[in-house]
Amino acid sequence: MRTVALYGTIAGFITAALVLFSTQGGPAFASHTYHRLQHPNVPPRPGRAGPPVAHSQSHISPPKQAWKYEYKLDRRNYGLSEEQCSVAFPELYKEVERAIAYRQKKGKIALEELDVGWRGDGILYIIDAHGVSDANHRPRSIATLHALNRAISSASEALPDIEFTFTDHDSALRDGDGTHTTWGYSRLASQESVWLMPDFGFWGWPDVGLRSYAELQSYLDADEDDFLDKVPKLVWRGSLNVGSGHDAREGLLKHSADQRWSDVQTLDWSNKTDIDENLLSMQEHCEYMFTAQTEGNTYSGRLKYLLNCHSVLLSHSMQFIEHFHHLLQPSGPKQNYVKLKRDFSDLPRTMETLGKPANLLDTRKIADNALHTFRERYLTPAAEACYWRALIRGWASVQGFKPEIWEDSGEMAMERRIGRKIQRKMRGAPFESYVVMEAVEWDVPSKPRKVCVDK
Ligand SMILES: *[C@@H]1O[C@H](CO)[C@@H](O)[C@H](O)[C@H]1NC(C)=O
Repeated sequence: MRTVALYGTIAGFITAALVLFSTQGGPAFASHTYHRLQHPNVPPRPGRAGPPVAHSQSHISPPKQAWKYEYKLDRRNYGLSEEQCSVAFPELYKEVERAIAYRQKKGKIALEELDVGWRGDGILYIIDAHGVSDANHRPRSIATLHALNRAISSASEALPDIEFTFTDHDSALRDGDGTHTTWGYSRLASQESVWLMPDFGFWGWPDVGLRSYAELQSYLDADEDDFLDKVPKLVWRGSLNVGSGHDAREGLLKHSADQRWSDVQTLDWSNKTDIDENLLSMQEHCEYMFTAQTEGNTYSGRLKYLLNCHSVLLSHSMQFIEHFHHLLQPSGPKQNYVKLKRDFSDLPRTMETLGKPANLLDTRKIADNALHTFRERYLTPAAEACYWRALIRGWASVQGFKPEIWEDSGEMAMERRIGRKIQRKMRGAPFESYVVMEAVEWDVPSKPRKVCVDK
């Protein structure tokens, strides 16, 4: 089997990771070669089936048929081949294509662009876990590293060597300057240099009660009510104490106030009674026919969860883009959500129309489309893994340098101490160590540590 390693260093809120892959069957790092694979968006060749996946094999070989994605069988298959990823999720990779096209205009990515000094929270070569030890960024960085590692270690084909940085902040940049080249959870349309990666919530968001993304899908598959049996109201819970989405949230509250179709309530995260009484789990949100989506500090991490409900999502037009937003359809036969004005002034009229008994079957069609597009296809764990690998391949295709795995260029290896060879050292720490130690360097034997302590 192939050996895979992920190299990560964390400084401040930035994680810089170097992903290296050995060739199939070779010892780890024996050949530090660059594999450039076929671009993931090349349409599948006609008449050629993708490699069979384990669950579709049987003792009697049936006649070869083109492989088809089946939700129930494949939704958690993290190891779909590149070709299967194209067949199953043909429209998933738009953000990767966009970022590649941008770099093709601008020129290849240079190593200097991966300097994270611009972040201001730390410098790459300072090995310091404090920057990600706070209660907000520690779980995010760990969740993202695990999700990335899952997509890498389940890959059925070799992946190219890349070096990149990612930020686990709500947005890639705080000052609106779109010049930095990094991976982020969201971007503004003007931030063309940001490469979108799946948000940490595709792993889990236990801090707010979402223990695992895949588990939510299992609950919904098993227990969700039929659309027509759901509570015929619009549900929303949230805080007004947010950044750029504040105006939209105020508009939602204003235009839903005292409406019989409304179950919209603010939450005060600092008031334990309020949270205990009014916080709803995501499954509870899905018990409503209508869900409201609002941006928060930047993008809203709950959107992908709400899109898992077999419900109708109502959202204001959004400023921040995540990797799957291009799949949202506001009109036409494939409509899968309802788009409203940013101030929600058109909410009352829209709710009257959608909720009218004579319209409910048409309204349900929007929820059906959302179910098929999101929970059953583009927002499956299988699609997430496909996207990570497309991101890795896409980045590699415009990476203008060769990642260096060794800490020095190998000269040390030639030195010898009294009969003892000095070993070369690799940069950073492997994923396996990083997620245990939450540091790139540590004493051996290690000292007792405290993690996740807000200063
Ligand atoms: C806390 O929340 C509860 C329930 O919503 C509310 O009755 C109470 O007034 C709140 N307390 C404060 C200090 O805001």
